[in-house]
Amino acid sequence: MKEQAESIKSEVVSSIKNVNTLSDLANLKAKYLGKTGSITELTKNMKDLSIEERKNVGQITNILKNEVTEIFETREREINDAILNEKLSKEVIDVTLPSKKIKRGSLHPMTRITEEFEDFFVSMGYTVYDGPEIESDENCFQKLNIPVGHPARDAQDTFYLSNEVEKFLLRSQTSTAQVRAMEENVDKGPIRIVCPGKVYRRDEDATHSHQFMQIEGLVIDKNISMADLKGTLEMMMKRVLGEKTKVRFRPSYFPFTEPSVEVDVTCFKCGGKGCNLCKQTGWIEVLGAGMVHPDVLTMSGYDPKVYQGFAFGTGLDRMAMFKYGIPDIRTIYGNDIRFIEQFDRKDED
Ligand code: PHE
Repeated sequence: MKEQAESIKSEVVSSIKNVNTLSDLANLKAKYLGKTGSITELTKNMKDLSIEERKNVGQITNILKNEVTEIFETREREINDAILNEKLSKEVIDVTLPSKKIKRGSLHPMTRITEEFEDFFVSMGYTVYDGPEIESDENCFQKLNIPVGHPARDAQDTFYLSNEVEKFLLRSQTSTAQVRAMEENVDKGPIRIVCPGKVYRRDEDATHSHQFMQIEGLVIDKNISMADLKGTLEMMMKRVLGEKTKVRFRPSYFPFTEPSVEVDVTCFKCGGKGCNLCKQTGWIEVLGAGMVHPDVLTMSGYDPKVYQGFAFGTGLDRMAMFKYGIPDIRTIYGNDIRFIEQFDRKDED
């Protein structure tokens, strides 16, 4: 019995030397240790043996099993090491190769410009106010001094969700935020808000989109004058378009402000000398503004004898087009990644 075990062991030792793959190793292992393997076979007739012999055979086969198993494990490690070494010697890493470009996301120009305005106003103590895009006719027009049938509605034709006047429409201006902020303020005390957001109109060409963005500002307090408005807008434009920017007020008309102004800035392309962008005037119109109309204050519960206010509204798309040199507003909403990528780090340039 002992000799038999010895010869099996030396057979394993000699044949395993020629095995170089894991699958051949598995086959060889089955030949000895598998269900019908020769080592397993040794214990097959155990039941016919005496107790003494059984003990002997059991002991010898157990030792043999352990030894052979170890021989297989060692060989398996050797083969695995060889496979790994071969892989390592073939896979050369060239550290001088340029690295793969990591794609960094970038902010959409509209997000960028909106945040720039918000940061400025927050630094001046304003709150960013959010209003809904679906609005009532009342908030969008009537409480801004634009009753049903008023001609000022023509310039702001929008999308109506129902024919009935009291029902809803898509807001055509963020000035709706003026009404909402005043009505929500139960103490009827001071207000200082900016409201950036989407607005809608029935327009569509290179400089007009049916959906665009505005930012509205509203300040209500005691002793507010046009000087406060002008100072605020001058600071704002300098921050967004550069320190050299100058601001000019021209008389204008909006039903909800009195007096009303249109605001021009010195052309940031030519610095005011005159060029194709400013049509040789040196100025570019950027926003509408004015002192909140006493009737608008009254309609939303404020006493115009105690409180005054100023309001302004500007198109954020227009500002982004100026600032980033975007020729067609439609590309802003085209969702083409190649367009957005161009604005990566634009501000740091
Ligand atoms: N809402 C006006 C527009 O869209 C702009 C404006 C806002 C004018 C606030 C005056 C005061 O044209």
